[in-house]
Amino acid sequence: MKAKLALLAFGVIFILAQSVNAADITLKITRKYLNLPVSQKQERGFMKFEVSGKQERSFKIRLAANEPDYWVFCDMTALQGQTVKISYDGDASGLSRIYEDDKIAGQDSLYQEKNRPQFHFTTKRGWINDPNGMIFYEGEYHLFYQHNPYEKEWENMSWGHAVSKDMIHWNELATALSPDNLGTMFSGSAVIDYNNTAGFNKAGTPAMVAIYTADNADRQIQCVAYSLDKGRTWTKYDKNPVIDSKAKWNSKDTRDPRVFWYKPGNHWVMVLNERDGHTVYTSKNLKDWNAESHVTGFWECPDLFELPVDGDKNRTKWVMYGASSTYMIGSFDGKTFKPESGKYYYTTGSIYAAQTFTNIPESDGRRIQMGWGRLQHPGMPFNGMMLMPTELTLRTTKDGIRMFSTPVKETNQLFNRINRWPALTASDANAKLKGFSNADRLRIKATIKLSHATNAGLNLFGQRILDYDLNFNLVNKVFYSPENITSTEITADIFIDRTSIEVFIDGGAYSYSMERKMEPGNKEGFHFWGNGIDVKELEVFQVGSAWK
Ligand code: FRU
Repeated sequence: MKAKLALLAFGVIFILAQSVNAADITLKITRKYLNLPVSQKQERGFMKFEVSGKQERSFKIRLAANEPDYWVFCDMTALQGQTVKISYDGDASGLSRIYEDDKIAGQDSLYQEKNRPQFHFTTKRGWINDPNGMIFYEGEYHLFYQHNPYEKEWENMSWGHAVSKDMIHWNELATALSPDNLGTMFSGSAVIDYNNTAGFNKAGTPAMVAIYTADNADRQIQCVAYSLDKGRTWTKYDKNPVIDSKAKWNSKDTRDPRVFWYKPGNHWVMVLNERDGHTVYTSKNLKDWNAESHVTGFWECPDLFELPVDGDKNRTKWVMYGASSTYMIGSFDGKTFKPESGKYYYTTGSIYAAQTFTNIPESDGRRIQMGWGRLQHPGMPFNGMMLMPTELTLRTTKDGIRMFSTPVKETNQLFNRINRWPALTASDANAKLKGFSNADRLRIKATIKLSHATNAGLNLFGQRILDYDLNFNLVNKVFYSPENITSTEITADIFIDRTSIEVFIDGGAYSYSMERKMEPGNKEGFHFWGNGIDVKELEVFQVGSAWK
């Protein structure tokens, strides 16, 4: 009996010792990173960093109490030599595992992880969604993005940041904008204020200005921040917000400001999604904004830009789109967008919230877009990706003017053509592709001709990469009508990465993206199918890695 009691008492003390954990730790920062263990099974709790009694940051994290699923990190560069108190209001047993290092946990295998896309941008750790603040400045393409640095699911919205000289090789920098007392950092855009209209410039250095939405429980308000060191560090404007339109719209949904300089009017233009469409605002100084006009029929993440038709700079049209990429074509006078035709789509699938770069030199003149690929990477400590950068153009087609999208020429450096075969039967083509089915990345360009409709296409381990239905005029279930209406041919340029597939049809007239998913147990590999089809041309390209 005594022994039993003693055992029971021991058990209670043991349980107490396991669950009573100090809910804070104090660390003197001497290294670049803090590494934090995360478990998706753990409830989220609030973690706070305090320096000299003042809150330095706070965020939600699933701090692993037991074996972590993966590690995330905080860049501590700005806090070197300081003493930081870290507190956590959830199960705090993981606090003692947080450690300082000059490397992030897993640094040695970074970008070589099994399911890490090899020619697409992904973040080192955590979640990404929309591209933000896309701008070219002094030789660098800046990609900011919706980011949760502390978990591979959506939360703690911040602006992550990466730069590239060619849109292929990216260098991830420190988080640019973190949540503050106005809210979390939702999507937005960036401009260079060459004329110092906002007064943020210093000693001749023009400010890079980010215009973003702060989201809080009550409202979504538009704010600005500026950087004088090419986007590396940011100062938020002390009189934020610059727009609060909740009352006017009787809606919280007012977000994702897209700003650009409208040269003919010598003023700034903002396109803001408000409740049921896109509102055009104008400003002389990026701080005071006037609502000018509103186009209904869009949701989230606006863009608006001018494009030449068929490359003719004297004949231009304006394109307006929303997060889904459906677009309208029309005219714009600096205050009002007048839709003339639409809505059309040029791309579907996993793409969402795409944005185009601003400030690309006139001598280049391209309109380059990147979109969020809503894709998973099984087992990885990160989630989401950016799809390939594409150039957007307007071309006259049998149906009128339409937008085309093709991978930018910079992507060519990735591809090395290893074979090209004309005039194959489907079974010849399947034999040629046999050795490539397990390649972790590949580009295939194929033109197939249907001679006995109804549908035909290409599978990879059972997944329908291309499914052209000539009877219903569908490409992968979306209506498609080729330029030559009597044509029975279709060309697909297919870009396969470890977790994604992007397909560009007939020179970019239509494109789509999807997760790379093989049917379990399927051994077929690449497989052209369809009744008596010809593979008129087949090309195979080896694909380089952007991370080597
Ligand atoms: C689109 C979106 C935006 C918003 C952001 C928040 O994916 O909902 O409208 O700003 O994501 O992360």
